[in-house]
Amino acid sequence: MQVTYYGHSCFSVVVAGKKLLFDPFISPNELARNIDIKAIRADYILISHGHDDHIHDAVDIANQTNATVICSYEIYLWLGKKGLKKIRPMNIGGHWITDFGKVKCVSAVHSSALPDGTYGGNPMGFLIESSTGNFYYSGDTALTYDMKLIGDYKNIDFAFLPIGNNFTMGFDNAVIAADFIKCDKIIGMHYDTFDIIKIDHEEAKGKFKVASKELLLLKIGETMEMKN
Ligand code: NI
Ligand code: MN
Repeated sequence: MQVTYYGHSCFSVVVAGKKLLFDPFISPNELARNIDIKAIRADYILISHGHDDHIHDAVDIANQTNATVICSYEIYLWLGKKGLKKIRPMNIGGHWITDFGKVKCVSAVHSSALPDGTYGGNPMGFLIESSTGNFYYSGDTALTYDMKLIGDYKNIDFAFLPIGNNFTMGFDNAVIAADFIKCDKIIGMHYDTFDIIKIDHEEAKGKFKVASKELLLLKIGETMEMKN
């Protein structure tokens, strides 16, 4: 599976030939100024919760790509009012089997209001299963015991976890989360974008290394092939 980083918590992953884009927040991100949003393609856009740093560019990218948006019921209502038509409303515990495989919505411990203050429903994470491998995208979340369910439920090849602290768990807790989900290959997200979530990369990687795990910190714009 080919993973491309667009900064903050925004990644695309090619899953069984379909391009999934997670939490598009690019145009306001100074660190992602070299990303050409107009060049981004997507078949699906998955939105973990309503905060602006996860949804900012969703409408524009959905319009330009004709992608199907996957999100909470409440975000579905909000995006519908912005004119989007191809939206799959979901909620925690549900799954959808579609052309790339299976997407299951799982719990996240966070909050979710849309940029104009509208209630965004519960925040969530996504568990993706496909013929090309399985992965977990946690969204913004604290470390939570519910992650153990994910570890028991499926073999995960890799996972995206927040590591920036303050608004989400930091890298110390992410090491424990990796244990809970039984996954040794973690791609870090939600760090460095703002002053209060800046982290020491070497310290974070070291914490994973002593736990016999790997923390991958992609450069913005970088594409990496993740083997299953
Ligand atoms: Ni958030
Ligand atoms: Mn966030």
